[in-house]
Amino acid sequence: MTPAQFDFAPLLPAGLPPPAAKWTGLAKFSFVGGNNDPEQVPVEGLIEAVEAVLRREGRTLATYGLANGPQGYLRLREFLRLKLKRDAGIDCSADDLLIVSGSLQALDLVNQTLLARGDTVIVEQESYQGALSRLTRLGVNAVGIPLDHEGMRMDALASTLADLKQRGIQPKYIYTIPTVQNPTGTIMPEARRAELLNLSETYGVPVFEDDCYADLIWDGRRPPAIYSMGRNGGVIHIGSFSKSIAPALRVGFIVAPWAMLSRMLALKSDAGTGALEQMVLAEYCAPHFATHVPKLTRGLRAKLDTLMEALNEQFGTAAEFEIPAGGIFLWVKLPDQVDTLKLYQAALAAGVSINPGPEWSTDKAHSKSRLRLCFANPSHDQIREGVAVLADVCRREFGVPTRSANVEARA
Ligand SMILES: Cc1ncc(COP(=O)(O)O)c(C=O)c1O
Repeated sequence: MTPAQFDFAPLLPAGLPPPAAKWTGLAKFSFVGGNNDPEQVPVEGLIEAVEAVLRREGRTLATYGLANGPQGYLRLREFLRLKLKRDAGIDCSADDLLIVSGSLQALDLVNQTLLARGDTVIVEQESYQGALSRLTRLGVNAVGIPLDHEGMRMDALASTLADLKQRGIQPKYIYTIPTVQNPTGTIMPEARRAELLNLSETYGVPVFEDDCYADLIWDGRRPPAIYSMGRNGGVIHIGSFSKSIAPALRVGFIVAPWAMLSRMLALKSDAGTGALEQMVLAEYCAPHFATHVPKLTRGLRAKLDTLMEALNEQFGTAAEFEIPAGGIFLWVKLPDQVDTLKLYQAALAAGVSINPGPEWSTDKAHSKSRLRLCFANPSHDQIREGVAVLADVCRREFGVPTRSANVEARA
């Protein structure tokens, strides 16, 4: 007789998040997540890098942290130091950098260091779902600042900071994705970055700069990082190799003053980020990153064009969007009657996955008829087919678009 299954439920402490759902595979037409273009993973270069670095330094794997200390593989930190100086104007040393397991771990470490239940932070009204959901889980109040075509609006930020101060509330940080904002795709110009820093200094609220899309700009013109423009050490900068090389590698980084970095390091309890990934990235990126990224970006831009064409063809004027300055997402507005949380369910049943707007916003009403589409992962054909299926589902559920490429909706 098989014994009754052991019941773990009575042992679980209070306050755990709900259980994870089992993964059921990617949808046939997947426009979700921050996945990248499979054709653009530099597989041959990574194979060469693996072989070269393992032959040269493989025996250092015997030591936790590759005998380079807990902040990460030194050659990777050196690559980043040079790259951040060249591309983002950041002047830092390898000791100012902490390599982490994707920038999601950076979000966790910053949050664990600074936040307690009941705290308040300032975020962009439309923002990264992974950041918003973490704040909800921590019981932190996220105040959303509206965006325009240059990112977070400074008039709204100024009045929110003044209002919070008047109510005796000191926000713990201002979280921004200034360079190719997720999900709206804008770039905050240098002048607005300076305004943001002025407000940060005036109110004594640090800036938390999440720059993981900064390599993927169509015209390659990246403004200086907010970190590089700060004068009082009140900026934390995070980045990632997920968008420029591959998300499954799980390698990101934090640049911060030692007073913050030392606190985060004390909380990083995994004895170091995967060493092989760090070694391969350093080996590959030092000679190849500068040529890989423009090629990747050209491919992404071509996919964006296919997506915009497909939306114009299938949805006509029912789908409104601004052309993003780079990245892997398009933020789309559908007519007001469309509820994208419902559209998400119906589309999934038809094999199309989308990210519904309310999950990417602090303003559920404003984002109700908006959605985010990732165009990096599907092929050009999948983009065209997937958008056609999405338009059919949307017409069936909400009566829009009233007319698509060749079918008129029944009244
Ligand atoms: C704004 C932003 N920050 C952080 C992340 C996390 O990326 P990763 O942990 O893969 O570096 C993402 C992923 O999509 C993102 O969009």
